[in-house]
Amino acid sequence: MTLDDIMVAPSILSADFSRLGEELATVAGADLIHYDVMDGHFVPNLTFGLDVLRAVKASTELPVDVHLMISNPDEMVEKYLDAGADLVSFHSEATAHAHRLVSLIRDRGARASVALNPATPVSVLEPILDDLDMVLVMTVNPGFGGQSFIESSLKKLRRLRRMCDEHGVSPLIEVDGGISARNAAEVVSAGASVLVAGSAVFGAADRASALAAVRAAGESGRSRRG
Ligand code: DX5
Ligand code: ZN
Repeated sequence: MTLDDIMVAPSILSADFSRLGEELATVAGADLIHYDVMDGHFVPNLTFGLDVLRAVKASTELPVDVHLMISNPDEMVEKYLDAGADLVSFHSEATAHAHRLVSLIRDRGARASVALNPATPVSVLEPILDDLDMVLVMTVNPGFGGQSFIESSLKKLRRLRRMCDEHGVSPLIEVDGGISARNAAEVVSAGASVLVAGSAVFGAADRASALAAVRAAGESGRSRRG
């Protein structure tokens, strides 16, 4: 797998929590499982935490991409690593110690990512960009599945891509929120390569074909990259 391969990460936020094991089995053809942790404080919604992460890890072979939408990542990141997170995204808006957290995550052998809310400029990443495995660009305001993609995210993705080129680095760029086969080509052509899809996958009766449709649309956008 090269950095330019499109990866699809179904978000289990839109899965049926009463049958999580079976739901995970329906997306075995994905690249990552996207795991949304919400604390009812950083975002106005509450989801799941460490125990459910351990259960998910025991039920899938896929790497788990943990998206921490929590106010206190400094206190919690280590616990999520202990519970088996393979990739950890914490929000830039939630910590004054991004560099310290990135080092901690990487020292533990996991991949480190910083997430940006729609209103946070990519320039906040300037000092730490060289140390990141991934940048998560929120393409909706975090908190809920099923929201509409924010169009201005495309400009932000292009700006991020340019900044990465200037730094001579190529972290993965993940987009999260309102992604479907309808806009996957556009976000990929603007610079994304990891596509989170919640309702577009779990809202479909046939998950394998929903995954394949998002992937195919994403791949079609790769050749259009400027
Ligand atoms: C939103 C979460 C997303 C969410 C995406 O705050 O971070 O991961 O599950 O859901 P869709 O794809 O339905 O917008
Ligand atoms: Zn997410």
